[in-house]
Order: sequence, then C-alpha cells, then structure tokens
Amino acid sequence: MIGAKLKIALLYDLWNEDPVAAAAKEEADATRKPHKKVKKAKKEKTDREEIFEALQKLGHEPSYFELDGRPTSLHSLSRCDADLIFNLTESFDGDDTKEMNVVAYVDLLGLRYTGAGPHAIFMSQDKAIAKKIFAFHGIKTPFFATAYRGRIEHAHDISLPLIVKPSCEDGSIGIDAGSVVKSVKEMMERVEYIQNEFDSPALIEEYIEGREIYAGVLGSYETAHVLPLVELDLSRLPEGTPKIASYDVKFEKNTEAYKLTKSSIAVNLDEDTVKRLEDTALAAYRALKLRDYGRIDMRLAPNGDVYVIEANPNPWLASRQEFAMAAKASGLSYTEMIGSIVDLAMGRYLNGNVATAATTR
Ligand SMILES: Nc1ncnc2c1ncn2[C@@H]1O[C@H](COP(=O)(O)OP(=O)(O)O)[C@@H](O)[C@H]1O
Ligand SMILES: [Mg+2]
Repeated sequence: MIGAKLKIALLYDLWNEDPVAAAAKEEADATRKPHKKVKKAKKEKTDREEIFEALQKLGHEPSYFELDGRPTSLHSLSRCDADLIFNLTESFDGDDTKEMNVVAYVDLLGLRYTGAGPHAIFMSQDKAIAKKIFAFHGIKTPFFATAYRGRIEHAHDISLPLIVKPSCEDGSIGIDAGSVVKSVKEMMERVEYIQNEFDSPALIEEYIEGREIYAGVLGSYETAHVLPLVELDLSRLPEGTPKIASYDVKFEKNTEAYKLTKSSIAVNLDEDTVKRLEDTALAAYRALKLRDYGRIDMRLAPNGDVYVIEANPNPWLASRQEFAMAAKASGLSYTEMIGSIVDLAMGRYLNGNVATAATTR
C-alpha cells in the first residue's frame, strides 16, 4: 500500500486558543470553501499547512481534522475513514497532559497514525520518569529532584546552580530567565512559582553549562537513525541572562532573546563527539520507545560529557524548525521528509512485524 494514494487526515488540536474564539472561527470556517483556509495564511504557513501541501505533492489526499476539545469532535473522529492520521495534536482542550489520551483514543478506534504511541508520550512528557528510564539505560541526564507542595518525590544530592522547571510541560512553558537559580532561597521561590502557576510538580535539575545540541531521529526500532545535529547558539544572549532556550528564545519574535539566538547545523564538533551525541540520542529514543520521528535535546558540557535534557516525541515539523533543518541537511526535501514519516507509519502497520507488535500499537 506504500506508494499508493492515501486518504490522510491531519489531526490537530486548538492548542492555546480560547473557546469563544475557537467557536467563532469554526463558524466562519464552516461557511468557507475548504481550501480558502490554507490560502489565507499568506505570511507564514503553519506546520499543518506545510504538511498538507507536502502530502498533496506526494499524491496523497490530505484533509484537516480539528479536535476542538469538545466530546463531539471525539465522536466525529470515531467516524474518520482516513487511511492514516497524521498526528499533530499536542493537547486536548488546551490540557497538554492529555496528549497521550488523544493518541490512546485513536489507537482504540483502530486508526493508523504517525508518530509516538501513548506509552512513549507518557514516558517522555513526565520528565522525571524519562530521567529514571535514562538512568536505567546508563544514559547521562542531569541529577535532579522533584518537589510538589512540600513533598519531595525524588532527590539526588544536587548542587547549585540549578534549573527549576515544570516536570510535565514542553514548549519551554515556565522557562524564563528566572529558571536558573543560584541559591536555596531562589530555588524555593521558583519551586513555589511552578507549583502555583502550573499546578505541577517542580523538576529541580542540576544546570549543565554547555552547548545546546538537538538530534532529530527518523525511523523506528532498528531503522532509527540520527539526522545531522543542530545547535541552538545561545552565546549572544546578553551578559547575565542564562544561556537557555527560554519561551522567549523559542517563540517571542519581538524579543531580544529571540533575535539573538539561532539554530543551525552544528559545526566544530570532532568525530568522536558527534558519535557520542548520536549514540546518546539513539539510546534515549529507543529507551522511551519513540518511533517514526523524534528529537532528543542534549547539552554538551565543556569536558565533553553528553547529557540528555529531554526527548520530544512528534516534534514540531514546521520547515523552519530544527527537525526539518536536520532532514534537509541529510538530503531530504521537506516533501520527502513528510513522505518518510508517512511511509514509516504505514510500514509499522502493514509489515505486521511480530517482534515489534507489542510496541507498534
Ligand atoms: N539541566 C539543564 N541544564 C541546562 N539547561 C537546561 C537544563 N534543563 C533545561 N535547560 C534549558 O531549558 C530549555 C528547555 O528545557 P526543556 O526541559 O527542554 O523544556 P521543554 O520541554 O519546555 O522544551 C532547554 O532547551 C535548555 O536550554
Ligand atoms: Mg526542550
């Protein structure tokens, strides 16, 4: 069936949009012709628009499927007749801890979908759990403690400086200049802030000074391979600002932090270091049972030690983002990259590989 024309539904959620605006948008969309929405966003295409176009170029039949956080959208999904779901969901009704539930639901419906299964999303999203699994596999990750409302859930004997972050968020939510703390007082204040602001346990990690390296991984199980490494250069951030990928660095285009930082293919890494970064990324990818595609975020300490900061199942696929940048450097056009993800997902379902059956669904 690979190579055949597939009906592919791009499943996405209304992440971070308020329900009133979403309802208004839905009403407006209903009165429009389906393709108008794609054409309208002239300035910068969204990832789903880019993927839609790539799927068309590949000869597939893409369509959008919006999960708006209401049960009715789940009911509609149960009637979806697509050959494959291209999964771009990150939350349900704005709650990103429900990302795995969406995938589990798609699984229950017996639909095929791209990317990580619910178990991998669960293990990756709870960073403390991911770190415990890394430790089991001998993968270096910063020492840490977790605290929630006065209760210490786990504690290494950690030393300052530390970075305090929500233990189950991503997209650098809750990560700003105040995240890196240099005293116990600052740490306790930040833990309280994380608990109050996000109602989340705080992950208190040893801060690793060093280069920020991202490894895109494409493939599943034995076919997984690392794409060219990407570095986020944080060195131009102003003196006194911690060199971290804060929310501003990632998303706030009008901030100095955004303008002064840039991702590009990593250079000036010797062969041995590249190998260690790649091996670490693959080990982390496999340990958390990621599949099809993923991105492992690492820090390379000045002494050459490689630390995994986190694993991202289903990373952002916009053409300007690190994963597509890495794929391009490996020789894949954006369309080919999307095609590979479709083929990898379909391959998992169609090959009927008994050895991986338990983890493929
Ligand atoms: N232990 C750490 N040492 C140094 N920098 C860190 C550490 N943990 C996080 N960071 C910085 O904060 C950024 C965001 O942290 P991360 O855990 O990846 O959160 P998110 O899931 O929101 O991307 C990282 O990309 C890195 O720049
Ligand atoms: Mg990250």
